[in-house]
Amino acid sequence: MQAFSLRDLEVQAQRRLDPAVYDYFAGGSDDEVTVRSNEAAFARIGLLPRVLRGAGPAELETTLLGCRLSMPVLIGPTAFHRLAHPEGERATARAAATTGTIMIVSMASTVAIEEVATAAREAAGGETNLWFQIYLQPDLGFTESVIRRAEAVGCSAIVVTVDSPTFGRRERDLSNGFSDLPPGMCCENLREPMNGNGSGKIRKIVFSPELSWKDIEWLRKVTELKIVLKGIVHPEDAKLALRHGADAVLVSNHGGRQLDTVPATIELLPAIVNAIDGRIPLLLDGGIRRGTDVLKALALGADAVAIGRPVLWGVALAGEAGVAQVLEMLRSELNRALTLCGCSSVRDLTPDLLQVRVVEELCTRR
Ligand SMILES: Cc1cc2nc3c(=O)[nH]c(=O)nc-3n(C[C@H](O)[C@H](O)[C@H](O)COP(=O)(O)O)c2cc1C
Repeated sequence: MQAFSLRDLEVQAQRRLDPAVYDYFAGGSDDEVTVRSNEAAFARIGLLPRVLRGAGPAELETTLLGCRLSMPVLIGPTAFHRLAHPEGERATARAAATTGTIMIVSMASTVAIEEVATAAREAAGGETNLWFQIYLQPDLGFTESVIRRAEAVGCSAIVVTVDSPTFGRRERDLSNGFSDLPPGMCCENLREPMNGNGSGKIRKIVFSPELSWKDIEWLRKVTELKIVLKGIVHPEDAKLALRHGADAVLVSNHGGRQLDTVPATIELLPAIVNAIDGRIPLLLDGGIRRGTDVLKALALGADAVAIGRPVLWGVALAGEAGVAQVLEMLRSELNRALTLCGCSSVRDLTPDLLQVRVVEELCTRR
């Protein structure tokens, strides 16, 4: 069946997936206000294209923390890809590699990071662009062992998810009785080391309200990898991230799966842009479904965006080819949006392309 948009892909994926798995992927916490706001907020921002600028073909390439990207769209970390396709995160990594973008591998990946990296390397024919997402575990010794695994396979950044001091309450999952992975699948990155005291058993992820900026200081000392803080929404936290040596910040409300009624990330972006003031790269996720959404995020000051659910629809529909289709759709839409706006590059987008009233509203909100 033909698909013309990411939304078409979601409809098709929903038909294929077990309904409880679809709900796990699509759903959010509580009333899912934030899930809906993320997407709706992009639609409220009007574009004001420029004309007759002789911009020529648009350039989509960019660099981020030393990684070269064919476009400023990353694969955000999402758990459990094997629920969608037998190849799971291997398929996603191959698509990221052939598309020339970064895959942020979830700590809750159903394929071990070593195997994800092998798949990515084989598809890329060499160097890969993998970042590794972690939930800092109160057992710092175990956390360190996971970081060492990510380092050993060539991940170039650790993405610390900081918006999860406890688990969001997802009522779709509660009503479906969806709580654990089926037999034969597990979070392979949570396997205890076989040597020393470890038993090789799989740990459960601990979401800890004890975590603090001290733990980010600890992380800074144990690894030389770049550190990205994912889940910053408050400008004061953006300043603290700078002070604690973060190499980048990812503005995220976890796709509306943690605290419900956090505003749409695109509405939060301008205040974070002010706080960061160009000192480190800024990323955003949440509700990106169109090339115009990417363009709006970049025009408001993001260096790149990440996508979550659309990748899962791609995995569910056709594994590697499905994820590649998702990324290529966004590339083609972004390309067209840039040209229609009279822009020649993703690197020089500015807020004057957005409706003045909306920009003023967004920028004075905090
Ligand atoms: C099914 C699912 C699983 C997720 N798993 C993780 C995860 O393991 N770690 C994490 O930091 N974020 C996780 N996220 C959040 C995403 O990284 C991202 O913030 C969010 O999906 C972006 O919004 P979008 O889905 O609208 O693109 C998950 C999101 C979904 C939908």
